[in-house]
Amino acid sequence: MSLQKNQNAPATPFVPAMATRSGAWDRKTFWQRADKAKEATEALAEQKMKALSRLPVDALRQFCTQYRFFTIDYISDLALLLAKLPFGGLRSLLSEILAEELGEGDAAKAHPEIYDRFLASIGVEPERLERGLPANRAILGGLTEELRHRAPAFGVGLRGMGGECLCQTYLSVMFEHLRTHPYMREHANRIDWEFWTIHTGEQDIVHGELTRQAIDDYIRQDPGALPDLAEGYERSITAWNLFWQNIFDACVPPGRHVMSKTT
Ligand SMILES: [Fe+2]
Repeated sequence: MSLQKNQNAPATPFVPAMATRSGAWDRKTFWQRADKAKEATEALAEQKMKALSRLPVDALRQFCTQYRFFTIDYISDLALLLAKLPFGGLRSLLSEILAEELGEGDAAKAHPEIYDRFLASIGVEPERLERGLPANRAILGGLTEELRHRAPAFGVGLRGMGGECLCQTYLSVMFEHLRTHPYMREHANRIDWEFWTIHTGEQDIVHGELTRQAIDDYIRQDPGALPDLAEGYERSITAWNLFWQNIFDACVPPGRHVMSKTT
């Protein structure tokens, strides 16, 4: 499926209309825009996630459940991206990140399994684990399709940068507000926080920095990849914002939204 491009697109597009052609990008401009996009994402996440601390418990469970589908698809998309990349630092780094996502040989340490233990510990029943929002399943399926058909650099922007750099921003903000919820505070001692320890701490920050360095080396070696990389990253931002907006629309009762749909 094609993503609804305009809804939830950042107020300042990552790729200006005139900058899609080859030669319109250089590394410095790219990273400046990437930093701005990250800041804008952080501000948007901060605005949205405020509602979490006041959600009814069941809505909070439903909200948290929806993120599991991202963690599952991220793994197979990363594998697909790896298959397309040339030998080099970025391919090797992403393969290490993939191995960590898979639990490095221990199925119980695969990140989706760790996330499911968090869900179980906040009272999500096993039969509710498969209830993904159709709109978000379509978004994730669309990303996989694009990854399959587009150039490797587009995939790096879509899943290499988007997954590691953008995802961490949202998760950190989500965790900040999640843990202030009265239910979370009351049951803090019996909640399995492992997923959050991994994804909002030092390890994920280091992943983000290493990924950025490896992507920078990748575009140093192949500057012609920049337009595709930028386009993939913009796609990632739009999809990511829409993914979360769908979750908010489905899980947050009207009146508790702290942002409008078009923000
Ligand atoms: Fe992970």
